[in-house]
Amino acid sequence: MLSLPRTIEYVDGKVRLINQLKLPSKLEYIETSDWKRVAEAIKKMEIRGAPAIGVAAAMALALAVREIRTENLSEAFSYLKSVADALISTRPTAVNLSWAVKRVLKVAENAKSIDELVKKVEEEALKIWREDEETNRKLGEIGAKLLDDGDTVMTICNAGSLATSYYGTATAPIYKALEEGKRVRVIALETRPYLQGARLTAWELSKAGVDVVIATDNQMGIIMEKENVSIVFVGADRITIKGYVANKIGTYPLALVAKEHGVPFYPVAPMSTIDPGSKTGEDIEIERRPSSEVLYISGARIAPEGVDAIYYAFDVTPPKFITGIVTERGILYPPFEKSIRNALRGLDE
Ligand code: MRU
Repeated sequence: MLSLPRTIEYVDGKVRLINQLKLPSKLEYIETSDWKRVAEAIKKMEIRGAPAIGVAAAMALALAVREIRTENLSEAFSYLKSVADALISTRPTAVNLSWAVKRVLKVAENAKSIDELVKKVEEEALKIWREDEETNRKLGEIGAKLLDDGDTVMTICNAGSLATSYYGTATAPIYKALEEGKRVRVIALETRPYLQGARLTAWELSKAGVDVVIATDNQMGIIMEKENVSIVFVGADRITIKGYVANKIGTYPLALVAKEHGVPFYPVAPMSTIDPGSKTGEDIEIERRPSSEVLYISGARIAPEGVDAIYYAFDVTPPKFITGIVTERGILYPPFEKSIRNALRGLDE
């Protein structure tokens, strides 16, 4: 059985989350009853990963609603709405964030009293947290069928347990395969500049007993040639209705290299990552982060003074490079517009 620390929990009116900026050297928690501290944690990437920031935002609303002192329900709701807007603005690319916030606001709308509002918001936040793990376990069951004993999986960033409430998305098939007794080796791309692969994926996979090795991002071509990669699993921050997948920077070149070498490439994501409101990559806001995150490593400048850096934090993989998308409703195959629409309608694929 997998035994990893919980990424985020809601206990006695407080949110407790792993400070992922401290990993792998320290397992340190942030504990707060202040929704603004949770918003800050999302912004600073102390918690990151599309489903995890959705859960964190939902729990932040549960903290905010406890601060309400008015008896006027519409005033209370407007306050909650302003907190929701602030949370949504923390990070733009992952749709799971606004999805979770909107889900909580929807149940809040039906409250008939302040007490009921507090209760409903808290219950919904916890439901989103619980469902996230359940969904990931389904992703694991479905995705593990793509893995054979002895396979090598390549992945980028961290779409693991740390990026979700538990079990991960891209890691779910790996954890399930491990539970089934299959031996699977993982090559984790280090993921410049935040190093989620080297710091986080390698940390949780090794803790879980998975055979994991790290490679710098720029080795993806040669590794695909020489290391017998069986399959690529990646996470996703937003999937459009036509099957364009926004994910951590480097995912798109990884898909190109995989295609060139005939290696199957699968994003693994919950249905909540699908954004029915976007069609292609042009509809997705790509987060651009401060160039200092590229120019400095552990506080030391690695580039000449006066030279700036470009930093797109995500890229978009077009559907023609994607073999299939593993969701809790099954594996969606091309043509994606049809399979995605069917899955959204809840039809069997
Ligand atoms: O910038 P991050 O670390 O939040 O980016 C995370 C990713 O790109 C993940 O692959 C994605 O959120 C899916 S997590 C299950």
